[in-house]
Amino acid sequence: MTVLYFSSTGNCLYIAKRIGGKLFPIAECIHEENFDIEDTEVGIVFPVYGLCVPPFIVDFIEKTSIQTSYLFAVATYGFFPGAVCGQLSEIKTKNDRSFDYINRLKMAENCITFSDMAKQKGDSKKQQSQIDELLADITEHKKFIREDSPFKKLMTKNHIKNYEFETGVGITDMISVSADCRGCGTCASLCPMKNISISDGKPVFGNTCISCGACLQNCPRNAIHHKKEKSSARYRNPHISLEELKIS
Ligand SMILES: Cc1cc2nc3c(=O)[nH]c(=O)nc-3n(C[C@H](O)[C@H](O)[C@H](O)COP(=O)(O)O)c2cc1C
Ligand code: SF4
Ligand code: SF4
Repeated sequence: MTVLYFSSTGNCLYIAKRIGGKLFPIAECIHEENFDIEDTEVGIVFPVYGLCVPPFIVDFIEKTSIQTSYLFAVATYGFFPGAVCGQLSEIKTKNDRSFDYINRLKMAENCITFSDMAKQKGDSKKQQSQIDELLADITEHKKFIREDSPFKKLMTKNHIKNYEFETGVGITDMISVSADCRGCGTCASLCPMKNISISDGKPVFGNTCISCGACLQNCPRNAIHHKKEKSSARYRNPHISLEELKIS
């Protein structure tokens, strides 16, 4: 089994690890132009952004040829997933393959401008039993697409039109780097878009930000701050280490 994941604070990586198999960061596949995947089972685990499948995930799926007998996807989200499952069910791989199984999973919210990271809870019993159900579904190759309510469909339709996290300046014009920065380069090695370089001992941001928050959530000195952050608390999934999130 091959599991492709995108994860800025570890929720999706944790789920990918629970599913098992060979794990590959989607960011690495994009940088290495690895758009051919073949395995008996292939899965994609990604976070919901702005009630939608993030556009870089859509691009990746549409560019990638996936040869498999079972193609599944799991979207993790924090507060409201919209109709992300329905949206994904209409997206096909380069070789015209659609998904056999799409589900969503509520986890900690990692959008720093929307929620206070200090209030994000660890595992709940409910969450763990949902993960167990999901793992059982995948093991038995269940065919299933999670149904979205009409309200969720309407919300996602409106959000797709005004998608707010396009690639570009992203959040970088809203962030500042404090004197606590030691120029360690961790933020640069975490950025899935290779949008950070270190110059004169400080991070310099380019124009390919997707607003994922990996840099500011995981800075070991907590030196990166967003003008609109709810608090200075930071979140990383309790099962995932900083090293595991670095993109090679
Ligand atoms: C830019 C951005 C937008 C987000 N938008 C949503 C959203 O619309 N709905 C939601 O429920 N969660 C949203 N989230 C929260 C993430 O989907 C959620 O915390 C996810 O589990 C993070 O996974 P990761 O830790 O693997 O990156 C957003 C997070 C970010 C950074
Ligand atoms: S991770 Fe933090 S301390 Fe290290 S270079 Fe980036 S901002 Fe500075
Ligand atoms: S600069 Fe920060 S927020 Fe933007 S893509 Fe890179 S890690 Fe994510």
